[in-house]
Amino acid sequence: MKLMMKKSVFLLVLLILTVSLFVQCKKDNVESQQQNTVNTCDTTNVTYSKIVSILSTNSCIGCHGSSASVPLNNYDNVKTVALSGRLVGAVEHLSGYNPMPNSSQKISECDRKTIKAWINQGTKN
Ligand code: HEC
Repeated sequence: MKLMMKKSVFLLVLLILTVSLFVQCKKDNVESQQQNTVNTCDTTNVTYSKIVSILSTNSCIGCHGSSASVPLNNYDNVKTVALSGRLVGAVEHLSGYNPMPNSSQKISECDRKTIKAWINQGTKN
């Protein structure tokens, strides 16, 4: 009987240790994920080259070449569309604009933040 008690106390302690270890791991995981999103979206000093890479990785350029009705093929054209409010309107799916790249999908939050930062920082080339 005494042995049984000892055994169950031991098992209980083991269980508590396992659970607290698991909880700690989960916490670490969430913290490192939060760190990641903060670290990977750098919107300081955004220049046109960053915007070009956003437009090309999101396949905007294919439809918005030099002959498109809304060309996004060079600095002046992108700047004009950006300053008119249409670029943010389109990628944020604001009402009154064509939602881009399409109505069911937005580009990443970081890409959208970067576009807005570029405009706020004066559409630097
Ligand atoms: C499949 C082809 C296609 C893709 C991909 C595409 N667009 Fe468009 N986009 C269009 C068409 C078509 C229009 C409408 C043109 C017009 O207004 O005459 C348009 C309109 C726009 C407008 C003007 C919106 C308005 O209502 O004034 C902007 C800005 C724009 N696109 C940006 C983008 C960006 C940024 C991307 C990438 C995230 C993108 N587009 C991807 C075809 C595309």
